[in-house]
Amino acid sequence: MIASELYKNIGTVLISKEELQNKVRSLGEQISQDFKGEDVVLISNLKGSFRFLSDLAASLTIPTQVDFISFTSYHGGTESTGEMRIIKDLKMPIENKNVIVVEDIVDTGYTIDFILKYFQDFRIPKSVKICTLLDKKEKRKVEVPVDYFGFVVPDLFLIGYGLDYKEYFRELNYIAEYNI
Ligand code: IMP
Ligand code: MG
Repeated sequence: MIASELYKNIGTVLISKEELQNKVRSLGEQISQDFKGEDVVLISNLKGSFRFLSDLAASLTIPTQVDFISFTSYHGGTESTGEMRIIKDLKMPIENKNVIVVEDIVDTGYTIDFILKYFQDFRIPKSVKICTLLDKKEKRKVEVPVDYFGFVVPDLFLIGYGLDYKEYFRELNYIAEYNI
């Protein structure tokens, strides 16, 4: 299928560009308040959270560092398998740091659960918080502590603002349903 055909299946817009901007700004204010006098490391799990991480970092008013990991339970499909793989590890040390794991969406919870256990077992951060833009709560298979979230979303396949289908649609400035 050619790429332009894929774009015909974009469904209803769930979250507009303005709603995203406002929410990210208020999350940034809240995190800056909670970590007043401290500094944080934003750790983004590639690639879905790259847009959110960028806008969130810009809305923080505390000293901030950024690093990237790529831990995945996906193998190109649309359903989580629960089998985790480390594609890319951290570049900087996070010992004694306030870590905020920035996710695009928490679905089954397998990814966050794995990341948390990995950090607890192999690194010794000062603290770890989870900040996800979207929370697909009803799909949860393993309980994970979500400290900050933007929007609770229904069990639909979503695209845009970093979220992809077949690596497309990350460039969209809104979150929409995708009709697979
Ligand atoms: P979990 O391990 O099932 O919680 O999966 C989290 C990851 O699955 C997210 O970081 C996304 O990369 C991906 N994912 C889950 N739901 C969607 C969706 O609706 N659209 C695009 N990616 C999704
Ligand atoms: Mg992701």
